[in-house]
Amino acid sequence: MNKDILDKYLKAGKIAAKVRREGAVKLAVAGTSFLETMDFCENRILELGGGIAWAQMGVNQTAAHFCPNEDEEGISQEGDVIKIDIGVHLDGWIADNAMTVEVNSNKYANMIKAAKNALKAATKLVRPGVQLWELGEAQMSEAEALGFTTVKNLSGHTLGQYKVHGGISIPSFNNKDKHELKEDQVIAIEPFVTDGDGFIKEKNPATVFMMKSNAAARTPYARKIIQEMAPRKGLPFTTKDLTRKFGKGTAALGLRELQRTGMITPHPPLVESSGGIVTQFEHSMVVQDKPLVFTKHQDDQW
Ligand code: CO
Repeated sequence: MNKDILDKYLKAGKIAAKVRREGAVKLAVAGTSFLETMDFCENRILELGGGIAWAQMGVNQTAAHFCPNEDEEGISQEGDVIKIDIGVHLDGWIADNAMTVEVNSNKYANMIKAAKNALKAATKLVRPGVQLWELGEAQMSEAEALGFTTVKNLSGHTLGQYKVHGGISIPSFNNKDKHELKEDQVIAIEPFVTDGDGFIKEKNPATVFMMKSNAAARTPYARKIIQEMAPRKGLPFTTKDLTRKFGKGTAALGLRELQRTGMITPHPPLVESSGGIVTQFEHSMVVQDKPLVFTKHQDDQW
């Protein structure tokens, strides 16, 4: 890999790991505001010299894609199982990582451990030539070893410049995919583990969106959004980015038009369909004979 690009991945990874950890420490304390924590994470990314790719979270049955609105009043509560997923980029080279904390409780310690084990087991297998099903099977067997299952319709992914999903999905079960990883590919492995059936569905209106590169609009409301979000080059943006800048009315009108015309794709919260609790861990890495994991924090035991 080009040294310049690798350096950007490494730097983005350091920032992503630090911010993910700092956010998780906050959320693990009962009474912490979700909105304040996500704002804190975004500010920290900038302070540390990164570009914000995203700061998202999920609570209990929600696996991912929850981004608080500016009037969100949710706070962490004792017994909550909270996922935090932080993406940082430098010139579009993205570091993607996530972890789970439990608020003042140990009830789900085993499910948290299972997701860690699943990530560790799959990471160990990463090398050029490994087939995708092998990574999936490793994750599932760790989940099952502790009495759980993985969320089958969520997967890891390759990363590309300004591309959150580079086109190849990394399964969390044996899906028989014999596609092989190649040297220097950049991938994120992110097992979601649950005590439910192991499937998620979209629930509640989206607060996270992604914009098409050729987005155009008819009304000034929608045009403002396109202009404002153009520098993100297709990386996600959230409702609060818009309401704070333009006010709720303009943001709502613009978002409605852009969704109707297909210029933006909504990403609603992903919720376990049978009501199971969900845990998740994620690292980004470069595929090599020994994978170069670049989102590891010194305090990560996984
Ligand atoms: Co990811």
